[in-house]
Amino acid sequence: MCGIMGVIGRENAVPKLVNGLQHLSYRGYDAAGVAVYNGNTLDIRKTAGTMDRLRDLLEGQPAEGSIGIGHTRWATHGAPTDCNAHPHTDTDGRIAVVHNGIIENERVLRQRLAAEGITFRSQTDTEVVAHLIAKFNRETCDLRCALRKTVEVITGAYALVVMSVDEPDRLYIARKDSPIVIGLGKDAGYVASDIPALLPYTRDILLLEDGDIACLSQDAVNVTNKDGDEVQRPFRRIDWDQEAADKGEHTSFMEKEMDEQPEAAARLLEAPLVQSKIPSRVTFVACGSAYHASLIGKHYLAELAGIPATAEIASEFRYETPLSLDGQMAIAISQSGETVDTLMALRQAKERGADTAAIVNVQDSSIARVAGAVQWMHAGPEIAVATTKGFTTQVLALLRLALDWGRKNDTLRANEVQEWHGSLKELPRLMREVLVKYGNGGLREGAEECGAVPCFARQNIAPRLVFFLGRGLDTATAMEGALKLKEISYQHATAYPAGELKHGPIALIENDVLVVALATQRELLPKTISNIREVKARGARVLALCQQQDEAALANDADEVWTLPNAPDCLMPLLAVLPLQRLAYEVALLRGCSVDKPRNLAKSVTVE
Ligand code: G6P
Repeated sequence: MCGIMGVIGRENAVPKLVNGLQHLSYRGYDAAGVAVYNGNTLDIRKTAGTMDRLRDLLEGQPAEGSIGIGHTRWATHGAPTDCNAHPHTDTDGRIAVVHNGIIENERVLRQRLAAEGITFRSQTDTEVVAHLIAKFNRETCDLRCALRKTVEVITGAYALVVMSVDEPDRLYIARKDSPIVIGLGKDAGYVASDIPALLPYTRDILLLEDGDIACLSQDAVNVTNKDGDEVQRPFRRIDWDQEAADKGEHTSFMEKEMDEQPEAAARLLEAPLVQSKIPSRVTFVACGSAYHASLIGKHYLAELAGIPATAEIASEFRYETPLSLDGQMAIAISQSGETVDTLMALRQAKERGADTAAIVNVQDSSIARVAGAVQWMHAGPEIAVATTKGFTTQVLALLRLALDWGRKNDTLRANEVQEWHGSLKELPRLMREVLVKYGNGGLREGAEECGAVPCFARQNIAPRLVFFLGRGLDTATAMEGALKLKEISYQHATAYPAGELKHGPIALIENDVLVVALATQRELLPKTISNIREVKARGARVLALCQQQDEAALANDADEVWTLPNAPDCLMPLLAVLPLQRLAYEVALLRGCSVDKPRNLAKSVTVE
């Protein structure tokens, strides 16, 4: 959500601002803009719509200046219009601000400023910040001080970057609960809301703590903490390279990231495992696909380590009755490490007495910094909004953790641990096998034959309803399959534990309904087959996914069967999700959807 880019150097900042914003556009946005200091005044170009519209605007009305800020906006306060786009300025147009997050007391502050005679030009909470800074700047004649006073009166989450014609050689940056990174390159200072925007210019990154205010010039950063004391925040070197954040020869980031899953799994299997004391009970907190991963983690912990766990949707957990979690462990799962509900849930769990840990991909992200211990996902940058390799690495990290704790808890015997070791070694190869079998078959437009997934997608491009069913671990995989389809193809789909279907949803089953039945859990297979028969008897078309060894058992009941390599049931979520991701992808392509940036969605959900 919302992308911020700021540059201060010698050359014209505009191309770098636009390039940086382009790298951040994966986060989801509906308006974009830049402000530069032209040596005299602030030049602002902003527009609703895509980065292409901003580029067109800049072509028609060029802007130039060596210091500037830019923004991609994901609308919260006010519609995605030109005038609600950032940057926002004070009344005199001397101070410009870009902002990521939500100012919760915006309404009260707006009323107060209006009573003082301020006329607002937008509906945004950010404009309130611009006017507040200007007001305090008039009182103090010191922009840093004005920003400090401003953050003392605003509540909520924010990353703010501020520039002023009065101090045209520096940018001021403040943060609380919203991501922001600062970088120093060869001949310029940079600030952005995420690392990929800075990778073309520098890999030396500085992260601010909540409450910090930074002053960034061309070659230096000076940071003060929430008490106003000067502090040193260390720079760290980012080992991602630009190539990892580019889509290379792939047609989309999502396709690239789906294909990268075996190598991401192999990397994670080689990586060190987080060491922590073994909890007696675990509460997972997560959102979206990460929540689905946590449902799988809950099974793993019970089955392999004998540890009871609950999986909680972070936005719900935050507002439940805050019972004590003394002696338990709360584990946050988050690819971005910035999902605000997950972050707040983890903080709350800490306050409720839990030990904390996190499974995170992005280094130095907020969740990683709050958690007592971190297991890195090692997935590399994930750019497509709909997660793929993020999900599979989360699941694999959970499996490794459960196996480690099971070994230490003696719930797994030495020979079982040994067998698991062998199975995990095989996993990347099995994943690759599934990707080859259920890729696009190398054929698309005009082809006489095509791979199983594109063919199936063509025949099922717009079913009236789609149900994903499963039992046990398959239920969570079904939920992930349904979410992928909804997210990127806009096909309504819903997931149910197969046994629950009879308690209501089966009333919806008739001829033009598609059922995707996950039947990879061998112990539960007879039950799942019964459920398949129930929907088949009522006219549904059934696609079943099962292990190769069970193909014959399903052949008579399902209309189509996709087989997966034989492997322990616990590995099945990691294999079965691959064709489901591909199915969503193919349906999205056929429907002409933007697979990497689905409408209304954001990669990093930094508002509640
Ligand atoms: C967004 C993304 C989902 C993701 C969820 C949680 O909604 O679109 O793909 O699963 O956030 O993200 P996280 O970064 O916390 O794993």
